Amino acid sequence: MERKKVEGGAIEVALLISVVIGLVAAPAPRAAQSAEPGGEVTFTKDIAPILQRSCQNCHRPDGVAPMSLITYDEVRPWARAIKTRTGLGPKMGVMPPWYIEKNIGIQAYKDDPSLSADEIARIARWADNGAPRGNPADMPQPLQYADAASWRIGQPDLIVRTPDIVVKANAPDWWGELETVPVEGLTEDRYVAAIEMKEVNDVETRGGRQTVGGRYVVHHWTFSSRTPDDTDDSYRPRPAVNDSSTRWPTHEVGRNPDFFDAKAGRLLRTSSRIVTHSTHLHSNGRDTTAHLEVGFKFHPKGYKPEYQQLTSGFSLGNTVDIDIRPMEANQQLHAYAVLEQPTKLITFEPHLHAPGVRMCLEAIWGFNIQTLSCAGYDHNWVRGYAYTDEAAPLLPKGTILHIIGYMDTTPANKNVTDTRNWQGGGNRSVANMFLEIGIRIRLTEEQFQEEMADRRKKLNLGPNDVVIGCPLCNLVPKPGYTPAPSSASGGGQP
Ligand code: HEC
Repeated sequence: MERKKVEGGAIEVALLISVVIGLVAAPAPRAAQSAEPGGEVTFTKDIAPILQRSCQNCHRPDGVAPMSLITYDEVRPWARAIKTRTGLGPKMGVMPPWYIEKNIGIQAYKDDPSLSADEIARIARWADNGAPRGNPADMPQPLQYADAASWRIGQPDLIVRTPDIVVKANAPDWWGELETVPVEGLTEDRYVAAIEMKEVNDVETRGGRQTVGGRYVVHHWTFSSRTPDDTDDSYRPRPAVNDSSTRWPTHEVGRNPDFFDAKAGRLLRTSSRIVTHSTHLHSNGRDTTAHLEVGFKFHPKGYKPEYQQLTSGFSLGNTVDIDIRPMEANQQLHAYAVLEQPTKLITFEPHLHAPGVRMCLEAIWGFNIQTLSCAGYDHNWVRGYAYTDEAAPLLPKGTILHIIGYMDTTPANKNVTDTRNWQGGGNRSVANMFLEIGIRIRLTEEQFQEEMADRRKKLNLGPNDVVIGCPLCNLVPKPGYTPAPSSASGGGQP
């Protein structure tokens, strides 16, 4: 039977039904047999390398995904589903879960597992052509994986573990503070190069609801590390204004780890405790016992950061005036923030809730409006996107950052549980947020000029080159130019 044109589940079901009642038209000729430039697409030669690079870190025994995609026998039954899921474009459901749009904005991100248009087309041709195995001699060496407990930042230098959290199958959403946790085993203050947060729980990897949202119970967890002198009342959270506590990125379901800018490591001090700002627990439908682990990877001893850092950019967003109407696609939310100092953006991280399907980030500078990044959004897969070192936006003081959130409350958005309801802002999974929480670094005017000079050199830029994300990169300063001194005060909230 010809099933080449089958795209979504609904059509597939319709087709199956028509098969059952015998209404299927005569099969069309197999289009994929038409001349193919590089010969037949086979599993061993073409598909296995793609799966190794972009899929097997999750799709392997004990991985986070429901099935292993390593051997031909494992992959063959999924050929059609793989074609469908890799061909969805940067939207909810696409595999691998990475939603940056490739036709707009900056295109250089670290650890980008996404497939090229050519790879997607090859997968489709392979599936349409009966998913042939090919020559076993072409099969690449299998990759070696550490066990499921391995860390994507590499083995951490220090791991902090929270006490157990129990979430009952029928528990309502809960948010509040976890007990503070001492940071043990640190003999001196250390700067952190990378951090990874993980939920470890007793839910079986296989079976049950096979989504990341169905496996984990800690929907989000925001925290900082504090020493007793950071606060008047011991370790209780308080607004981080000029104290010496360190704010860390947010843990969320499906989120990737953070590598900080090499010049802006974050300080973890001895005798600190991990203090929760807010935790949101959401039942996965089963009684679950979970805890969180935070892995820290340190800079070498003696490292000193050159740059002040900003906390995650919580100032960019508006989670108060949210007005999302029922049963309507393509609703937009807008929020703006003015950069009060030159700023380098390290990551782009849309944070929406269930109705969110897309976010774009723009930089407005004078007459100039540049779209920096647009990404699809799936609330089961909250992703942060780290710009490569040569692409991280360098934005002048006075730039206006603008985020546009796109909401869909029609049944097309499977994450919305009841499309009849109006939705406002709030913490629960059924309420909404509209934030961009990427990491940003505040630069002095001098550092900003240095970064741009460095960028011009690395990218070999001249006065006629327009660089997305660096509106002043093509303005080469006159010899002898010294920027007006500025005061980059660190520590406070942006
Ligand atoms: C970051 C982890 C991760 C990566 C990388 C990843 N997947 Fe998945 N995949 C999952 C999880 C978890 C699910 C089940 C939940 C969901 O659909 O979101 C899934 C579901 C799927 C499904 C649907 C299974 C079903 O039951 O219908 C297919 C097909 C699939 N992945 C193929 C791929 C392919 C092909 C790649 C690489 C090109 C890939 N995945 C990369 C984690 C991943």
